[in-house]
Amino acid sequence: MILSDKHLKFREKVKQFADNEIAPESTELEKKEKFPWEIIKKMGKSNLLAIYVPKKYGGAGLDTLSYAIAVEEIGRVCGSTGIFLAAHTSLGIYPIFLSGNEEQKKKWLPPLASGEKISSFGLTEPNAGSDAAGTQTTFKLVDDKYLINGTKCFITSGGVGDTIVFTATKDPSLGYKGISAFVVEKGTPGFSEGKREDKLGLRGSITSELIFDNCEIPQENLLGKDGEGFKVFMQTLDGGRISIGALALGIAQGALDACIKFCKSNSINKKPLFKMQSIQSTIAEMGTEIEAARLLVHQAAALKDEGLPITKESAMGKYYASKIGMKATSTAVELHGMLGLKKDYLVERFMRDEKLMEIGEGTSEIQKIVIARELFK
Ligand code: CAA
Repeated sequence: MILSDKHLKFREKVKQFADNEIAPESTELEKKEKFPWEIIKKMGKSNLLAIYVPKKYGGAGLDTLSYAIAVEEIGRVCGSTGIFLAAHTSLGIYPIFLSGNEEQKKKWLPPLASGEKISSFGLTEPNAGSDAAGTQTTFKLVDDKYLINGTKCFITSGGVGDTIVFTATKDPSLGYKGISAFVVEKGTPGFSEGKREDKLGLRGSITSELIFDNCEIPQENLLGKDGEGFKVFMQTLDGGRISIGALALGIAQGALDACIKFCKSNSINKKPLFKMQSIQSTIAEMGTEIEAARLLVHQAAALKDEGLPITKESAMGKYYASKIGMKATSTAVELHGMLGLKKDYLVERFMRDEKLMEIGEGTSEIQKIVIARELFK
């Protein structure tokens, strides 16, 4: 897919931002498990937090393809900042944009677009991971409030989210038809952060449990119609997979860039690495697979911008980008030899971060189920 001048210029703008504002901080964020608060403020000022949201709600008014490009460029230098952006925009903001009424959009979107507030998305539960319709968190209308009880887990930015979109069911025996989507705001009595996870990778991002213990939320926090939450979340995941594909792609590109730099500046027996045929073969394979993944991710983004179905294409992009990304980052570590195992080199971090791309936001097995269901239709 050939990018337009507009998209190429936008890529250059985000690349500069990523290289100047994020890359110098990325090792520190990872080592000290620091959430990127300062970077998020700068991203808000640069209009990167709600790229495809219309300007009237505080967004940049661009398209999904621009957003995919931005996530890739940021992921290239920092997976933790990349996953924050992907979860904030695709999972936290999107359901409000998709199914919120005008009042809800005006209330919640502008502070999320500026970075004044952070969003997150509560779907996964201890007993409802891959099976999203198995939601056990319940809601009950009591007088004029919804009473929520249950636990969500593995929630990106969970403990720091101000505006959290989540699902609950009025009766688990109803399956997906009982599920509605809601917004809970940080500080609401009965809502709290549970365990914070100590993860293999993306250590500058926060992943937490969220606990609802007789939490009362106002009726106006219902998103869309009662019983439509499952479909809103499925559509949200379709778009979310574009961003995780883009992030997996960015991390893989970061690993490829590191390999190219390493091979240009190192030799064996006075022969530069980049002149060795086996190295050329490895780099050529990495570069080709990354480019193929980019085409799949961009195709899904472009289809979304045309308002066309993306269920199959976004799952393919996420599946393929994370699969070849894992291969590329492992190869990158091996290509650096013993040095690749050292924390001073970026490639070991890329490999750990990429593992979460394969598993996070729906495992590769889930993507294959989604793809196969579409192919068999
Ligand atoms: N778009 C719109 N509607 C959809 C849809 C989609 N992509 N997928 C399903 N639906 C609709 C169906 O059409 C159907 O509606 P009708 O009956 O009116 O036709 C309804 O939803 C139910 O569909 P299914 O019976 O097909 O649903 P299912 O229970 O079989 O779904 C599944 C199976 C697709 C695997 C689904 O459970 C799924 O996607 N699971 C993966 C969940 C996932 O990716 N979790 C990771 C979340 S990320 C996270 O937690 C946040 C974070 O911070 C990391």
